[in-house]
Amino acid sequence: MAPKIEIFAGIDDDEVPCTEGTNRRFEDVIAIRLRRRDFVAGGLASALVGLFGHRPAEAVLRRAEKGGKSILGFKPVAISTADAVTVPEGYRVQVILPWGEPILGNMPAFAEDNSGEDQAKQIGSHHDGLHFFPLDGRSDDGLFVMNHEYTEPRFMHRSAFGHPLGVHAGYLVDGKRPADEVLKELNAHGVSVTHIRRDDKGRWNVVKDPRNRRITGVTAMELSGPARGSDHLKTKYSPDGTKARGTLNNCAHGVTPWNTYIAAEENFAFYFVNKDTRDGKPYQPREHADYQIQRERTRYLWELADSDDDVYARFDATPKAANATEDFRNEPNAFGWLVEIDPFQPDSIPVKRTALGRFAHEGVVFAPAAEGRPLVCYSGDDAMFQFIYKFVSAKPYRAADAGGHLLDEGTLYAARFNDDSTGEWLPLVFGRNGLTPENGFADQADVLVNARAAARHLGATRMDRPEWGAVDPNNGMVYFTLTNNPKRGPDDTDKANPRATNQYGHIIRWTEEGDDHASTQFRWDLFLIGGDTKGGRDMAGRPLDDSNIMSCPDGLWFDGAGRLWIQTDIGEGQQNKGVHEVFGNNAMLCADPNTGELRRFLTGPVGQEITGVVTTPDGRTMFVNVQHPGATTPAKDFAQGRFVSHWPDGGTSRPRSATLVITREDGGVIGA
Ligand code: FEO
Ligand code: CA
Ligand code: CA
Repeated sequence: MAPKIEIFAGIDDDEVPCTEGTNRRFEDVIAIRLRRRDFVAGGLASALVGLFGHRPAEAVLRRAEKGGKSILGFKPVAISTADAVTVPEGYRVQVILPWGEPILGNMPAFAEDNSGEDQAKQIGSHHDGLHFFPLDGRSDDGLFVMNHEYTEPRFMHRSAFGHPLGVHAGYLVDGKRPADEVLKELNAHGVSVTHIRRDDKGRWNVVKDPRNRRITGVTAMELSGPARGSDHLKTKYSPDGTKARGTLNNCAHGVTPWNTYIAAEENFAFYFVNKDTRDGKPYQPREHADYQIQRERTRYLWELADSDDDVYARFDATPKAANATEDFRNEPNAFGWLVEIDPFQPDSIPVKRTALGRFAHEGVVFAPAAEGRPLVCYSGDDAMFQFIYKFVSAKPYRAADAGGHLLDEGTLYAARFNDDSTGEWLPLVFGRNGLTPENGFADQADVLVNARAAARHLGATRMDRPEWGAVDPNNGMVYFTLTNNPKRGPDDTDKANPRATNQYGHIIRWTEEGDDHASTQFRWDLFLIGGDTKGGRDMAGRPLDDSNIMSCPDGLWFDGAGRLWIQTDIGEGQQNKGVHEVFGNNAMLCADPNTGELRRFLTGPVGQEITGVVTTPDGRTMFVNVQHPGATTPAKDFAQGRFVSHWPDGGTSRPRSATLVITREDGGVIGA
């Protein structure tokens, strides 16, 4: 009998999408703008010094008042809808490390019929957060580490061609997914470590190196910190709750002061299903329901792989045995963490650091480490109405023995942004402030596994999807993108999230009291209001114009000179249409944090988002990722072999995520 072929549809855009509709409340935007004026013109500098002894911010504001020289030295690029990358005059671009590029082992070339095993030796798909680890401090030789957030199955498997498949859709044969296709998708996730070097013609190439590595959805990992060994983490694979398999949906990243890489686990919930019932009704424990573990099926149906190996079956977290050490009911609890990876030690085991909390981590950014002071890092939970967190280590940072142990002991806090521009960090500590058994918290492991519930209980501020954070190297101010929140209602706004139906997003920033990142108090304001020429505003309240209108800020990074790089991710369902039509393809902008000046630096090809940015130590080579080009290809076009993007290979090729290497023709510093 012929096998029965069924198509399954994908679940959602990868990101919670922006939505149409115009319910902007200009009065709120103006209120924020006025407050910003108060900050600048109303003697805020001295007020801050009085409150917090805030000298660096004072210097910044003084420079702004004097109209200091711009730190942006390039001509802005125009909005683009072309299937190409555009950069300013005098700049050039090389494309490296596309999905499928071989980097290790027998170096299998990219091909339509690459196997799951091939994919484990190639660059993964859907490039996201990235970092260049220089070798010997060089700017022409280093380990390039990046996240591979998710996959688009229809572009991965030859068998998919000819079917009307959407972004996350695939097909079943007799109710099962071909196991090797599932393995290929698991191996397209995770992190890649690739030695790259510039040759004498200025081109960057892959160097074969024993440090080249793929970490994937099946790589063995350790769990560390307070939740290690807790009942929440016990599975058939790890009955003592100390180990996990794989990392998934690695969005942004962080770099520790001791030069390791941290991959954040963001939308892990799509990958798991729990179909349990109680009294005939769907039932999930809080650590599933609060994270939207799926109730009917997973995004990619990996749990239906045609294989007996529980590396696939574990994605079904429905309780099946007498207790948790005999099934995978706790498998989703092993995801939603920050994962530390040492790129210089290819045999090192990645470590999930549970003290940093479990949520949809967009990424993590470290405050500059100061000798003898606690280590501090910040992380956003990218979902509508979720929180911004920071972690303060219990032990002081000492360069001589700094390491991952600092991330295993300390205090996790969630932010409350008060309407009067002050803010507080609320500690997620078991036994304090009502995080007690009477309120459903059993111990510190329970608080960390259920960080969302704990932060909610403490009264943290419900934000408009916190994405990347960045710390200004000149004054320690912390910036976070809030990408959008179409579900915020008109009666549900606050000063930190001032727009109902926030479809364009904004950027918030704060200064910790006394310039001490470990402080529990801060002062905040809004740096940028995303939008078109009518609604968008810079920090001084000036309307945005054609050179810098933008929507859905996501990636964020400060270069060494203090230029703030801002990347956009208008979801694939909203790009180039409706209220988002005016913004064209997703782009990268650059801001002067001292003056609010903002210019568009780069536009990407069709259907993608721009995400991840860093330069070499000399600032003269910049790396930027292009994720999911062509994701806007309609299912009916895909069935006909048509793609809306053929970037980067051109012709009739399948689109591929890839990395841009940006340099100046005159060899100068990028952005200057
Ligand atoms: Fe994966 Fe929130 O971006
Ligand atoms: Ca995205
Ligand atoms: Ca992102």
